[in-house]
Amino acid sequence: MSVKDSAARYGAVSRVLHWGMALLLLWQFLGAGARLLLEDTPIEAFFWSTHKPLGFLLFALIWLRLLWALLNLQRRPASVGLPATLGHLGLYALLIAVPGLALLRQYGSGRAFEPFGLPLMAGFDGKIEWMTNLGNALHSWLGWALLVLIVGHVFMALLHRHSAGHTDVLPRMWGK
Ligand code: HEM
Ligand code: HEM
Repeated sequence: MSVKDSAARYGAVSRVLHWGMALLLLWQFLGAGARLLLEDTPIEAFFWSTHKPLGFLLFALIWLRLLWALLNLQRRPASVGLPATLGHLGLYALLIAVPGLALLRQYGSGRAFEPFGLPLMAGFDGKIEWMTNLGNALHSWLGWALLVLIVGHVFMALLHRHSAGHTDVLPRMWGK
């Protein structure tokens, strides 16, 4: 399989990023779901404990993915239509906004943040209210909106595969 994308299929880098991030997001939403529904249980403690560092990792990966998508824009498989293009753009926008707003809130809180031991935010005395307010207002709602969009994305991929007259797009991203 080629490293770069081609008109017929996504290449190795796009696929590793797509499926790797999908697995990390699955874990991330298990944690968010446990926080919402199973508060103060060992299940929440298990899944939720990685939420911040993993969220930071996803934030770093989405920029790599965006860069790779732009470099491969001319050779990627053609979109099956405007709704697909808009759906993919929406996924990118939320994959930047959701962790981005949480990181902004984290910075504004004045608390130190060291994902994977990396000294990312040193922390300071006080608080930057507009940053924490923005994150409080939007992070979890947009997070759940991202999950809805992902469910729609998977549904459409399967619908295209099993409907007569539709282009089966799954082999572009999975298998040969
Ligand atoms: C967390 C979950 C997921 C996210 C965030 C996601 C996001 C995306 C994005 C942004 C694209 C556009 C190509 C790119 O830039 O990488 C894409 C393509 C694709 N995804 Fe997903 N995806 C997810 C899970 C899945 C799953 C579970 C399936 C399996 C049915 C799937 C099937 C596909 C297919 C077949 C394409 C190629 C579509 C085409 O070329 O028209 N995705 N995905
Ligand atoms: C792609 C990455 C991320 C996704 C998909 C995501 C998703 C979510 C979701 C759905 C919730 C709501 C849970 C509930 O209803 O109880 C949530 C809450 C939360 N997230 Fe994230 N998150 C991500 C990244 C981050 C990052 C990077 C941080 C911090 C650095 C963070 C910190 C928090 C905190 C503190 C909460 C609880 C407060 C609140 O509901 O806003 N998240 N996240």
